Amino acid sequence: MNPAGTGPGSLQHPRFARAFARAVGAMDRRGATDHRRRVLAGLQGSVIEIGAGAGSSFPLYPPAVTHVLALEPDDYLRAVAETQAATASVPVTVVAAAAENIPAKTGSADAVVASLVLCSVKDQAAVLAEIRRVLRPGGTVAFYEHVRSVHPFLAAAEDVLTPVWGRFMGGCHLNRDTLAAITAAGFTVRDNQRFGFAVQRLNPPLAHILGTATSPGPPG
Ligand SMILES: C[S@@+](CC[C@H](N)C(=O)[O-])C[C@H]1O[C@@H](n2cnc3c(N)ncnc32)[C@H](O)[C@@H]1O
Repeated sequence: MNPAGTGPGSLQHPRFARAFARAVGAMDRRGATDHRRRVLAGLQGSVIEIGAGAGSSFPLYPPAVTHVLALEPDDYLRAVAETQAATASVPVTVVAAAAENIPAKTGSADAVVASLVLCSVKDQAAVLAEIRRVLRPGGTVAFYEHVRSVHPFLAAAEDVLTPVWGRFMGGCHLNRDTLAAITAAGFTVRDNQRFGFAVQRLNPPLAHILGTATSPGPPG
């Protein structure tokens, strides 16, 4: 059963999805492909990618990954991702699902990939608890996310902009401290790099984090 408002049917953002699918290639050429490659390096076995978008990570999975279950609730982006799956570096299955309700058995995954998606989910804590549920003890959450600025003035601006920004950007929040949320969910951060990255030429750089954390296994 999906928590209220988190079934794939309630997570459609058709205008944002079309704009994102058009823009993601330029973002990847500006540096996101390199970031994606770094976050996927070292993964192996059975992987779940939440909010896979246009499937930009699919060609970049290392050969030690045996299968990727890619979740994408938005119909338009899922269709693009399905096309991309056909040319992926490893077997990829794309499904209509939200990260709040991952269609996988408890403790079954070796790794979960969250790439530019924990900014957009409605309830980060619920999604991180669900990621913990599906990961085996010692499993990896690999994250590449834009996050709240450490500069108080910029963080305050992000707080002010987020309600409007989110309306046009598929529910994205500019102001989330995602690393703190990952730690609060019980994961142990193994490595983390923090850097500024402008996703488009005229955009100001946003703080990003890229790294891995280890799961203690499903809660309770
Ligand atoms: C900015 S895009 C990033 C897409 C892709 N991960 C990437 O790195 O290019 C955000 C993605 O999160 C997805 N999304 C939003 N809410 C979600 C949720 N609750 N569960 C899973 N995916 C979600 C959107 O449909 C969209 O594909």
